[in-house]
Amino acid sequence: MENKIDFDEYTKNYNQLLQEQTGFFSSSEEYFARYKVEIVCNSLLPPIKSVLEFGCGIGRNIGHLQQAFPTATLVGSDISAASLELARQVYPDVEFLQEVTAETLSEKHTLGFDLIFIAGVFHHIAVEQRLAVATSLFKLLSTAGHLIIFEHNPYNPITRKIVNNCPYDADAILLKPTELTNLLSEAGFTVERKAYCLFIPPALSWLAPLEKALGWLPLGGQYWVQAKRPL
Ligand SMILES: C[S@@+](CC[C@H](N)C(=O)[O-])C[C@H]1O[C@@H](n2cnc3c(N)ncnc32)[C@H](O)[C@@H]1O
Repeated sequence: MENKIDFDEYTKNYNQLLQEQTGFFSSSEEYFARYKVEIVCNSLLPPIKSVLEFGCGIGRNIGHLQQAFPTATLVGSDISAASLELARQVYPDVEFLQEVTAETLSEKHTLGFDLIFIAGVFHHIAVEQRLAVATSLFKLLSTAGHLIIFEHNPYNPITRKIVNNCPYDADAILLKPTELTNLLSEAGFTVERKAYCLFIPPALSWLAPLEKALGWLPLGGQYWVQAKRPL
């Protein structure tokens, strides 16, 4: 990918840019992190003893993951050193790694992670590298561990407009849900579930129960896929 975005350059104004792009939906950019982790919590059965957020950026989801899985060991990883530096300042008790592979994992994680959480990362990975990344993630999961990926929904015209206008999305190549599920299957995962999400803004929270019923409708702002490492 020639125009690969370097997120080191966006650490200081990441939240501000996100707020500018998504303010019409939620007045707080934090809403999106909380919303995703809530879906993850409702989709998994305990015990979850170890969690990796792959592509954690400046750590926007980390606090919510900590709250959701208080007894789990939590690791964040990202290729952006500057983003990790910021995340470390906010969460000094969390381990952050710039490179995470099954081969480089420390002893305490050799059994792999029970949950790998990924939000908004795959569309930044060059198409030709995606299978290698998915295969590496497969090796990082514990036996019967789960992977949950959130991605922008390319069928939603508002999402596409946001991506087109967002400076740090200049390298984004969005994935259709079937592209993502095929990729995961090819890497060895069993895909368990996929659903569209982010239909209803928090201001209309009384309509929120509808979200679950709308998972089939390809108009949500994003979608998520749950996959597991088969036994
Ligand atoms: C849009 S940001 C999302 C950050 C975070 N997941 C969140 O929800 O706030 C995308 C992140 O993916 C990271 N990234 C891109 N390619 C990556 C790769 N191959 N491995 C790990 N992280 C990557 C970027 O550095 C950036 O921090």
